[in-house]
Amino acid sequence: MEIKLVQSQTEGGQIGLQIFKEALLKGANSFGLATGSTPISIYEAISASNLDFSKTVSINLDEYVGISADHPESYHYFMREHLFGKKPFAHSFVPNGQAADLKSETESYDKIINDHPIDLQLLGLGQNGHIGFNEPGTSFTSKTHIVNLTENTIRANSRFFESEDQVPKQAISMGIASILQAKEILIAAYGQNKAQAVRDFIQGPVTEAVPASVLQKHPNVIVILDPAAASLL
Ligand code: GLP
Repeated sequence: MEIKLVQSQTEGGQIGLQIFKEALLKGANSFGLATGSTPISIYEAISASNLDFSKTVSINLDEYVGISADHPESYHYFMREHLFGKKPFAHSFVPNGQAADLKSETESYDKIINDHPIDLQLLGLGQNGHIGFNEPGTSFTSKTHIVNLTENTIRANSRFFESEDQVPKQAISMGIASILQAKEILIAAYGQNKAQAVRDFIQGPVTEAVPASVLQKHPNVIVILDPAAASLL
């Protein structure tokens, strides 16, 4: 893993922009995208750039189950607000958390990933080491699946909802095996509340108890950290 220490999220955004730019120059045509506060500075930098994604596709990691694409806390909405509204892709795939048949939605999403092998996958990091919505204990061989969110994640994400009760209890997420298929992975983490998860995933054992630790096995991973997130390394 290559670690890039930055002084601010704005600087992290600029580094992220460069990595997206290099991927495009190398001919990337499929980008795996993430939500959460961490990728926002990268999306801002991309939105302000002259990069052209109109001939590429994007595939998002995850979506809550049971809230509509118009709900302000849905990941569909987040992506439109932070990126797609300003930087359109030829097609942007986000899992449909309202599908009547969620099992078949997971299967179609795997087909989408297989049809558009991801060149560069962007990831945030959960406080418990999750990636996408792959919570601790998720199999490293998992494909797209329905997840029961942990108390920790529900609490962490409740800051975006009016109350903890309103946070969906389930999500649909790309699996760990699907994430690992990406040719290159960019993961960012900022702030003291990520320090333990950062240490565990970079320096701890590779274990399903820390989903992001699987990245130690991937040959092409870049990690962007600020000093607080890197403070336990
Ligand atoms: C959610 C998302 C993850 C994200 C995590 C951390 O659980 N499903 O993809 O990485 O939150 O979010 P943040 O970047 O806001 O800390």
